[in-house]
Formats: sequence, C-alpha cells, structure tokens
Amino acid sequence: MIGFRTFYDFDSLRSFLNKGEKVPQIGLVPTMGALHIGHVSLIERALKENDIVVVTIFVNPKQFNNPSDLEKYPRVPEKDLALLNVYERVVVCMPQVNDVYPENDPYEKIELGLLDTVLEGEFRPGHFDGVAHVVHNLMFYTKPSKAYFGLKDVQQLSVIKHMVSSTKRPVAVVACQTVRDAHGLALSSRNLLLNEKKHKEALIIYKTLSFVKANIKLLGKEETLKQAKAIFSQSTLELEYLDIVNRTTFGPYEQEGDNNVCCISAFCEKVRLIDNILL
Ligand code: PAJ
Repeated sequence: MIGFRTFYDFDSLRSFLNKGEKVPQIGLVPTMGALHIGHVSLIERALKENDIVVVTIFVNPKQFNNPSDLEKYPRVPEKDLALLNVYERVVVCMPQVNDVYPENDPYEKIELGLLDTVLEGEFRPGHFDGVAHVVHNLMFYTKPSKAYFGLKDVQQLSVIKHMVSSTKRPVAVVACQTVRDAHGLALSSRNLLLNEKKHKEALIIYKTLSFVKANIKLLGKEETLKQAKAIFSQSTLELEYLDIVNRTTFGPYEQEGDNNVCCISAFCEKVRLIDNILL
C-alpha cells in the first residue's frame, strides 16, 4: 500500500516513486486544481490502469493569454487535497514555476499548424503553445506510461496527441468522457465563478450542442449552425464561436463518417465557458 502523499517538487516525487524494487507503472493526470468530479473521473480511470496515479496541480501561467483570467483562476489547494486523500494510490505533485520551467528547459517548441489557428487557437493566441509546453514537461519529469485528458477540452486533447507524437514521448494519451451535471452543464473549475442564476443560464450551451447533434445529418452543416445560433441568441450569454469541424485535425467538417465535433465558446457574464459534442 502506498498511502496518499503530496510533493512540491519533481526531485522528491521521483525519489519516492523510484525507491521500491520494482518501478511502478505511472498514470499521469495533469490538472490546474479546483478539482471536481470531472477530474475525479480521470483519476479513477487512471487508478484502474496503473500502479500509481500522479495528479499534478499547477496553474500554468504560460497558457493564460489574458492576465486577469490567470489572476481570477480559482485556487483551492486545501479542498483539492481533501478530495484526493481518500485514494491510497494517488500521489499529488504541486510543483513551482521554476521546477516546471527550469533554466535548462527540456522542451523544444513544436509547430501546431491548424490546431493553433482555428477555434480556441484563434481566440486564445499562444494558449496551446503553453499547454503543449507544460504537458511535455510534466510528462518529462513524472515519466508516466499513460496520461489522461478529458474530451471536455477536445482541441487541447488533439494538441497533446500531436505534441506527444512530434516529440516522441513514450506515453499513451487516454481520452476520457466529459462529465456533466444533471442538467447537462459540463463540469468545469470555472463554474465556481458562476452564481446560481448564471449557472441556469449557462445550460443553453448544452441545449445548443444537443440541437446540433440531433439535426446535423438531416439539415447539413450550414443550416444546422444557422438554427443553432438562433436558439443560442435567445440567451443572455455572448457567443464567441460555434462551429463544426473534424475532431482530429480540426479541419473542415466531413459529411461522411462520425469523426466530427461541434465546439462552442461563450461568455456567461465575464466567465468564458467552452464545451463540445461529438457528432
Ligand atoms: P484543467 O482545466 O484543470 O483540466 C484537467 C483535465 O481535466 C483536462 O484533461 C480536462 O479536459 C479534464 N476535465 C475538465 N473538466 C472535465 C469534465 N467535465 N469531464 C471530463 N474531464 C474534464 O485542462 C487543463 O486543466 C490544463 O490545460 C492542463 C491540461 C492541466 C495543462 O495545464
């Protein structure tokens, strides 16, 4: 039995992981904290498939293109640790910025192509460079066999798969289903910033996505998007984008097959929410 442990740097984490006779198989779950059931679902899946699960909690400054977004990001480390300390084979690492990005940084920037220019790439310049960089370094320092990511951030998932194959990291990237509340709102750390009224209004996001899924085959891309935008516009939320793309390349929607995704981003007051539905 390992027992729940917390580390604040990679050196002590590694010496702990390497001290047994047999090196354990590690599952990595990178997070930025303010943990919820969505994160827990990744951790529980990783527990089933590995000896030890390393959960990193690190609010990555490099992926915030907006300084006020970084400042506002919820930070509740005591609550996070209280949620996780029931898991015997979970080890939490909360590294410092210098530890993740040392002077002798192991990351060499890769090209993200289309992934970095459409949807999230277009509206959050530099964001995916920051995500690719941090996930690379977290993998580099924690040496997992598998790493777990949510489909909630479907474009991020594609960026990470691309980074892993370009940098030849020996890690299997595992995609996990989006966890939603009883009304369909995708769980997100940012939901903590919504009051009850705004929470209710945000349900229009899932309503719109569900409309797209139900109608895309019948109406085709353009008409479905037109009607979906009309439904969305009845809400108080401000739409940033709503589009349907190929879920791997983020290139154009392919009418044949089932490899497409409808992605949405909207502001609920000042809180930016993203979601998607696989088609
Ligand atoms: P964070 O938003 O904390 O999310 C950590 C992981 O949890 C991501 O893989 C995300 O897709 C997943 N996740 C979030 N909400 C989910 C939900 N409702 N259902 C299922 N999975 C969900 O995403 C990040 O952090 C960061 O960009 C990170 C990858 C840690 C790099 O800094």
